[in-house]
Amino acid sequence: MTNKKDDTTLEKIVSLCKRRGFVYPSSEIYGGLAAIYDYGHYGTLLKNNIRDSWWKSMVQMRDDVVGLDSAIFMHPKTWVASGHVGGFNDPQIDCKKCKNRFRADHLLKEYGIDADKATLEEINNHLDKLREQGKLKCPNCGSTNLTKAKIFSLMVKSNIGSPTEEFTEENVVYLRPETCGGIYLEYKNTVDSLHKKLPFGIAQVGKAFRNEIVARQFIFRTREFEQMEMQYFLQPSMMKEKYKMWKELRWQWYLDNGIPKDKIKWHQHEKLAHYATEAYDILYGFKSLGGFDEIEGIHARGNWDLSQHAKFSGVELNYTDDGGEKFIPHILETSAGLNRMLLMFLDFAYAEEDVNGETRVVMKFPKALAPIKIAVFPLLRNKPELVKKAKEVYDKLKLDYICEFDDNGNIGKRYRRQDEIGTPFCVTVDFDSLEKSDVTVRDRDTMEQVRIKISDLENFFKDKFSA
Ligand code: GAP
Repeated sequence: MTNKKDDTTLEKIVSLCKRRGFVYPSSEIYGGLAAIYDYGHYGTLLKNNIRDSWWKSMVQMRDDVVGLDSAIFMHPKTWVASGHVGGFNDPQIDCKKCKNRFRADHLLKEYGIDADKATLEEINNHLDKLREQGKLKCPNCGSTNLTKAKIFSLMVKSNIGSPTEEFTEENVVYLRPETCGGIYLEYKNTVDSLHKKLPFGIAQVGKAFRNEIVARQFIFRTREFEQMEMQYFLQPSMMKEKYKMWKELRWQWYLDNGIPKDKIKWHQHEKLAHYATEAYDILYGFKSLGGFDEIEGIHARGNWDLSQHAKFSGVELNYTDDGGEKFIPHILETSAGLNRMLLMFLDFAYAEEDVNGETRVVMKFPKALAPIKIAVFPLLRNKPELVKKAKEVYDKLKLDYICEFDDNGNIGKRYRRQDEIGTPFCVTVDFDSLEKSDVTVRDRDTMEQVRIKISDLENFFKDKFSA
């Protein structure tokens, strides 16, 4: 077995995801819905495992962080207070010839111009200059016939109430663009009901919605996605120390989940929001996207969020410390995209190997995250005694692990399928098993096979999965 030259492309990952049931384009039988995806059996299991690993490190293992599951719909004033209504926009530019739509700031980046946080006027000035020089071209068709940039709101609107009511500005509600909004609104209830003392955090995992202008990188940037966010409430004097602590903890989470340190790096934001004092992103080096891109942000947000919600709601969101001093807590946020992380693990795990002149595609997920832990096969599906024994082994193992019973096709095809799903171990029951009560266990990564007594399987896998 030799590793083939690494030419992992996004197309290969997208194709494997559909072929093996990780991710499907949503509403496909109706022609699809742009930038929305469904997760199949293995995609759901993998996503849940990533989420659970995050939850374990952020909530289960910590005494200072509690969980929350807040509603997607919130009072519309929430998003006025947070600055999203009116302010959560991207600059959009259209090609009049091919009708493609682009983010103007991303287009300017291709000309070496950093327009992150630039005003619309500044963006249009840059575009006009390029236009005058005859340089401004559509990245898709090369046409010079591009519109001026205009502002495009990322907020997704809905309406609730009586079904006969019109969809008006009065009854509009928004699908939350980030999950942290719900955390800010439940800060007071959390303090009142759980009597948490600063510093403490509230974590939640949930859906967020953004009307992204361009969403072309599979599940990297979609219009419906999941975030895993934690807001840590603290005294301002603690920010420096706790920011360092959370940066270290979040970095370590990636290493603990099998991502090597040369595959991730820090990006420090130079231009900060007016209320922020520090912002770093963790970037991952995608083979399939051709470079490093953001997975998670760690932000020191001052007391802006709670101050705004106190102002707009008229409810005091102060904290009174043991000395009787009242103040609005400052917030440190860790914010990661679950779907983007899933793409990171797919990208990292994807490998092609040459095995006796044939290409083996194998997803080398860290064992703890693999969607299926153990597959169990009878050597032949038409031998009832083998099927019966294999079912017995399967029924026992599935009490402790997510397992799969597979008797489709020949053994070679089953190995190939399980390799593409990323199953760390395959157990085969053959004729010797009937006499000697043992089975063959094949390791996904080395492809080595060992004979193990059925009675020893429990300890064998306990060792393997705890390692
Ligand atoms: N509360 C802060 C916040 O939402 P963000 O940088 O806009 O910050 C945090 O988003 C993370 O959410 C990103 O690092 C990314 O992983 C994920 N994310 C943001 N927009 C996304 C999208 N359209 N599709 C998938 N993931 C997205």
